[in-house]
Amino acid sequence: MGKIEWKGQSRTSYKGALAQQNPNVFNEFAKFLDNESFDYVIEIGTSYGGFALFLHEQSLKHKFKFSTYDWSGFRNGAFANRISDLKALMPLEILPFDYRDKSVFESDPDKHAVKEGSVEGRIQGVTPLTEIVDILLNNKCLLLCDGGDKVKEFNIFGKYLTPGSYIMAHDYASNKNNFKEEVKDKIWNWFEIQDSDVQLVMNEYNIIKSKYYKQFSSVAWLQCIKK
Ligand SMILES: C[S@@+](CC[C@H](N)C(=O)[O-])C[C@H]1O[C@@H](n2cnc3c(N)ncnc32)[C@H](O)[C@@H]1O
Repeated sequence: MGKIEWKGQSRTSYKGALAQQNPNVFNEFAKFLDNESFDYVIEIGTSYGGFALFLHEQSLKHKFKFSTYDWSGFRNGAFANRISDLKALMPLEILPFDYRDKSVFESDPDKHAVKEGSVEGRIQGVTPLTEIVDILLNNKCLLLCDGGDKVKEFNIFGKYLTPGSYIMAHDYASNKNNFKEEVKDKIWNWFEIQDSDVQLVMNEYNIIKSKYYKQFSSVAWLQCIKK
């Protein structure tokens, strides 16, 4: 498939749902997922759910588990309705994928238990944060950092990857100059993470840029593998 021209837009459509991505992202991810196998793919930041819908379809094709996290409390609920558009498109208004409404950084079991309406979380000390860590420690994962704080997501969760797992972060350019010269007005206009933000964790936890790094830079994603 040839490259789709990007015209500066912040959103693209996937089967009627919006994705906040360069339109070439689907092709790049499809090629990558044809080449590699995973037990579990996690997306942080569902937003309108268009990219999640694509990942869900890939999970059926390649037989991996898929969960996507968003948090309706972010910015006082300013984005909380975004997922309703996709729900409305679905039979019986049920999302086809595992959508988890919780802050990925929440580490207070009391809050989580209250939100889930059960005491189970509190008793076991389960929080969204430990829930994700548990998935990462027990599976070959692809973790997609595309939530409210990509730097924090990479630096926290990157510590728990198993060897062979991948971690990616969106709105990436290698540095300010690279953003200005190669990315802005050419690929993507949003810049939230650069190499210097994650270098320490990468060095300490044996995470390196993968052989797919260049392919994904072309759609403003950083891609790394845990050795
Ligand atoms: C850039 S959007 C995600 C775009 C989406 N991945 C896509 O491809 O269309 C970022 C999302 O992260 C969510 N978010 C912000 N803070 C969060 C948190 N602590 N936990 C989970 N999601 C969060 C926001 O509500 C927002 O919908």
